[in-house]
Amino acid sequence: MPFQNFIPPRRLLLGPGPSMVHPRVLRALSTPLLGHLDPAFLALMDDIQTLLRVVFQTKNRFTIAVSGTGSAGMEASIANIVEPGDTVIVGVNGVFGTRLASMVERCGGKAIRVEAPWGQIVEPDAIDTALRRSGPVKAVAIVHAETSTGVWQPLEPIAHLCRTHDTLFIVDAVTSMGGAPLEIDRWGIDVCYSATQKCLSCPPGLSPFTLSDRAFAAIKARRNPCQSWYLDMALIADYWTEGARAYHHTAPISMLYGLREALRLVEEEGLPARFARHQLNSDALLAGLTGLGFPPLPPAGQRLPMLTCVTVPASIPETEIRANLLSTYGIEIGGGLGPLKGKVWRIGLMGESSTEAHVLTLLNALEELLIRGGWLSTPGVGLQAAARIYSRRNS
Ligand SMILES: Cc1ncc(COP(=O)(O)O)c(C=O)c1O
Repeated sequence: MPFQNFIPPRRLLLGPGPSMVHPRVLRALSTPLLGHLDPAFLALMDDIQTLLRVVFQTKNRFTIAVSGTGSAGMEASIANIVEPGDTVIVGVNGVFGTRLASMVERCGGKAIRVEAPWGQIVEPDAIDTALRRSGPVKAVAIVHAETSTGVWQPLEPIAHLCRTHDTLFIVDAVTSMGGAPLEIDRWGIDVCYSATQKCLSCPPGLSPFTLSDRAFAAIKARRNPCQSWYLDMALIADYWTEGARAYHHTAPISMLYGLREALRLVEEEGLPARFARHQLNSDALLAGLTGLGFPPLPPAGQRLPMLTCVTVPASIPETEIRANLLSTYGIEIGGGLGPLKGKVWRIGLMGESSTEAHVLTLLNALEELLIRGGWLSTPGVGLQAAARIYSRRNS
């Protein structure tokens, strides 16, 4: 029997990514292909670099989109900077810091893990202590927005420490880029990678990536070639940044069309307005969830504006409710990972997903399910709490 057309069910994507995609991006994805060395395509790459520099807030010449998802950017950062025997200090307070440390070790480096409980930031003082106690350190690596816990890691104090100790600073901005301030040059970040499917609201498949001049010089001065040929930035530079536009691998043409359009949308909205939108909607969502009896995991002042992580009381069947949200209302939210499995919900309001309508739709659906199951008796508490946040904006 022939396979039928695949028609995806309608979904509201409010999980930890991917986020909703604007119709303009979907349209761009379906436009006719060009060759990856066609002058018209090379001009599109120039546009992407210019737009990425705006969102990264950098003048870095080496600012590109790595082929592959956020993990490709993570792997590119570590594989290019770390040589066998190098020491890297890694902040570990969730899934993605854990992965960074593991990648350092796979590259033959020594990872010094500076750990913090899941749900809390890595204290800059702890990084300072590790820098003082260790011998020469090649780099410090940390996650800006820890998607597994909803924690917002402050970067500026750590960047300052990296300058003082003359070490490179690697930052995972997969979830934060385009949804919260990220200032590569002003803060002094040397290596930063992101992903398209979070606050940039493009499908997954590319990893925005930037290198400071000193990071690129460190890559050029490597004693051994990068262990990954595909992600070797010294080779990829010939296609993206060094003017030669020489073939390395076939560029994911359609994805780059989509990214250009997604970045145009970011630029049209403006970064300050975009950050304010993410903050407002997350404040309203959190007020609503707290009203419904789901307290936030991270403490005040450390909560991400694009990913809200709340604790689910043991009396509430978290998997069942999450499954019902999907099957009855078509709404996707995320569950917990690792030690937080079954204990938290992770709700993403990223890029196109971050709207007042989506917040109210989710709170309404959640209230319905809680009332139906007998876990909530007062209808409207969540919605009213969220509405109060929105009305403050209007007054
Ligand atoms: C903070 C962080 N880093 C890295 C990744 C890996 O990105 P990807 O799944 O796009 O490979 C993710 C994915 O959710 C993430 O949230």
